[in-house]
Amino acid sequence: MDSLSEPIAENVDPLRALTLDTLRRRTSMKWLAYPEDVLPLWVAELDVPLAEPIIQAVTDAVRLGDTGYAAGTEYATALADFAAKRWGWHSLAVERTAIVPDVMQGVVEMLKLVTGPGDRVVVNSPVYPPFYMFLKNMDRQVVEAPLGADHRIDLDVLADTFRTATAACGRVAYLLCSPHNPTGTVHTEAELAAVARLSAEHGVRVVADEIHAPLAPPDRYVPYLSVPGTADGLSLMSASKGWNLAGLKAALAIAGPAAAEELAALPEEVSHGPSHVGVIAHTAALREGVGWLDALLAGLAANRRLLADLLAEHLPAVRYTPAESTYLAWLDCRDLGLGDRPAAYFLDRAKVALTCGVDFGTGGAGHARLNLGTHPDIVTDAIRRMAASL
Ligand SMILES: Cc1ncc(COP(=O)(O)O)c(C=O)c1O
Repeated sequence: MDSLSEPIAENVDPLRALTLDTLRRRTSMKWLAYPEDVLPLWVAELDVPLAEPIIQAVTDAVRLGDTGYAAGTEYATALADFAAKRWGWHSLAVERTAIVPDVMQGVVEMLKLVTGPGDRVVVNSPVYPPFYMFLKNMDRQVVEAPLGADHRIDLDVLADTFRTATAACGRVAYLLCSPHNPTGTVHTEAELAAVARLSAEHGVRVVADEIHAPLAPPDRYVPYLSVPGTADGLSLMSASKGWNLAGLKAALAIAGPAAAEELAALPEEVSHGPSHVGVIAHTAALREGVGWLDALLAGLAANRRLLADLLAEHLPAVRYTPAESTYLAWLDCRDLGLGDRPAAYFLDRAKVALTCGVDFGTGGAGHARLNLGTHPDIVTDAIRRMAASL
């Protein structure tokens, strides 16, 4: 494995393409945060070479000096075509989309459209830690509706949370994570329809963060806005997680028909944030990176099986349910007796960096999130180190 100059075939597992030595030459957050003796399996970056069509499109743009400001609807059109082919979702209307700098900025902007300062936003804990940070920073109150023990949305808890949150004054939104980070849960159509019903009943507006959607099995994924009853919903999508493009900033906000006017009121300055080269990269991913994505999904499925086997053999006290999507593994380490923050122990004693479960809110204590979007040898090394540290 490992030659930076050689393109990999689109049907070859990209997770097996790069050595640790090559990866350590990267200067992104994943690789800079910890010293060289630590295996970084924390932030959601993928240890893969980019899909060849993305490399080509970005290289061509840079050679041409096509590095000005983002414009046009190519990205949205590419997403609409991708969504139609992959998920059978044919009603993603390009005129009801807006380019935003990235998904979290998009989440902030969508929540500004449907709530005001001091208002409540419901989330399903444990959930992606920046949900808490960004909401706090924009002066929204986070209200938790914890997932059930099966990692699925507990609809009774959600209904109760909507009831209490709307009983106070102000507007209420629900920030849905679909698929769910950190558990990888793919919500079913029936669950999403129930979410839509409950939100309509309680006057709660839904903003769906669907950044991990390309990483779900195509026949299992249901886009939120494709579900009947979601006309006033808002969604964020991006090629960022699926194709490892976080550094090439660009995402799309999508409105259901009844939210179109609100989306049209998005302040113009928001469109100044996305990178034009990012838009080119994301468009190439959605148009020409599907073969590469399918090879990645096969590699991730293999890594989930590998992780389950490794844990059974070396760390049987850790509970792990392989997820249907994402490249994140949610490890229940409570039976190890390492306290609330097993990630701190494994960083210190095993030199493996995981994401601390406590940061995911209620339900996160005693858990850690492991990023398995990496070479299987690195997953193996990490679990062996963790087991040896106990
Ligand atoms: C659920 C979720 N939303 C948003 C993001 C961040 O996306 P962006 O970099 O486009 O803001 C992540 C990154 O891991 C994520 O897991």
